[in-house]
Amino acid sequence: MKNKADTLILFGATGDLSQRMLLPSLCALDADNLLSSELRIVGTARSAMDDSEFRNFARAAIEKYLPAHRRGGMADFLNRLSYSTLDVTTPEGYADLAAKAGLNDGLKDGADREIAIFLSTAPSLFEPTIKGLADHGLADSNSRICLEKPLGTDLESSCAINDAVAAAFSEDRIFRIDHYLGKETVQNLIALRFANILFEPLWNSQHIDHIQITVAETVGLESRVDFYDGAGALRDMVQNHMLQLLALVAMEPPSSFDAGSVRDEKVKVLRALRKMDAKESVTGQYRGGASSGEIVPGYDEELGRESDTETFVAMKGHIDNWRWQGVPFYLRTGKRLSERVTEIIVQFRCVPHSIFPGAKLVPNKLVIGIQPEENITLSMMAKVPGIEQEGIALREVPLNIAMPDAFTGKHKRIAYERLLLDLIGGDQTLFVRRDEVEAQWRWVDDIRESWEAEGKKPKTYNAGSWGPSAAIALAERDGVSWHE
Ligand code: BG6
Repeated sequence: MKNKADTLILFGATGDLSQRMLLPSLCALDADNLLSSELRIVGTARSAMDDSEFRNFARAAIEKYLPAHRRGGMADFLNRLSYSTLDVTTPEGYADLAAKAGLNDGLKDGADREIAIFLSTAPSLFEPTIKGLADHGLADSNSRICLEKPLGTDLESSCAINDAVAAAFSEDRIFRIDHYLGKETVQNLIALRFANILFEPLWNSQHIDHIQITVAETVGLESRVDFYDGAGALRDMVQNHMLQLLALVAMEPPSSFDAGSVRDEKVKVLRALRKMDAKESVTGQYRGGASSGEIVPGYDEELGRESDTETFVAMKGHIDNWRWQGVPFYLRTGKRLSERVTEIIVQFRCVPHSIFPGAKLVPNKLVIGIQPEENITLSMMAKVPGIEQEGIALREVPLNIAMPDAFTGKHKRIAYERLLLDLIGGDQTLFVRRDEVEAQWRWVDDIRESWEAEGKKPKTYNAGSWGPSAAIALAERDGVSWHE
């Protein structure tokens, strides 16, 4: 299915995601002439508004969240927008939505109409929304649906959501978002691995000692107190973003860059994740401290009560397959850490034999920086210039590609721009398939069970630090240091 949608319906159009990401991304795509002139966008939510009020609402969001140089002719973009007030749990209102989407009394007014529907609402509303869509001719073979996380809190609840969606949409019409897949450098990881001959022959347990994936944040709870406390770092970050990064690093080369081939390879990795022993993970919760130059409260204080929810997790994962046997994958994520940084470190092994007596050979390391800076650095050993009395002096030097410098004139895009464009265009390659989500939950549910069985409680760490000292010890036990 690669027909372009001519209508995009945004459920939750007045919500936070819509204001911060979706409306600004769509406006930026329009400014770059990437949306077809036919595309109309219908926002829907419970608040009573007419089209012109919604356009004013969208204008305010875009002015707040999209830099002026990316807005282009915003007036043209706003003209694409209309709005339909709808309480998704009651049947009234769907007829108006269908009419705004170009359908009349549930009948299509044009045989070729393609509708893309984006659900940016609480998952508890997915089921009634899908029923409402199906009852009003909006869920058929000419429409596709896009779902935002959280898709459940465990395997069982995730299956319930997936079943409800599958009752009205076939899998090739379901687009599950993991916004990390929309990030340029994450896609660049695929290019680095499969558009270069250099790395692939070395990309295995014979040449790689271990891999680290860090997603560190400086923010705390932000405004999502209840959601976050019910989720914690494992479900909020590891189950989705970090496992998707791991799958892209570890997958076999797909035969082509299309949705089926890429997702077939990722799911094999996710299914090969070894069940983790509770001792191979460390959980933490921040207490007050100084973060980004500010004094910030601890998690309990932000929450207003005591809680055992983890805001940090570090773990050592293993992939039980031929390529990765014996190569640990160290994963670490947390809120209120020392810096905002997302990076993947591929630590190669040492050369098998040194011909430089007395010189300390540091093994090569590939650092793939995803944010805040997009860069790729390969550390290499090189001769220090000069004449030595004996032998030669060596030092580790970086070979660095800073993406913004390599591609000047290209602006940094919001991850949702790529994903919205692919949703409209019908390309599922950067969306997560049901079997992937379920393999991710299976692994994470086992970890949670092992924590419960051991009565594991998060260790405290100071805001502005790199997490509890036990996380450092987890790696150091194996002679590994976290990259900082
Ligand atoms: C979201 C999580 O999925 O990703 C948030 O729910 C987290 O807790 C966010 O802050 C991080 O995304 P990014 O793009 O800022 O790294």
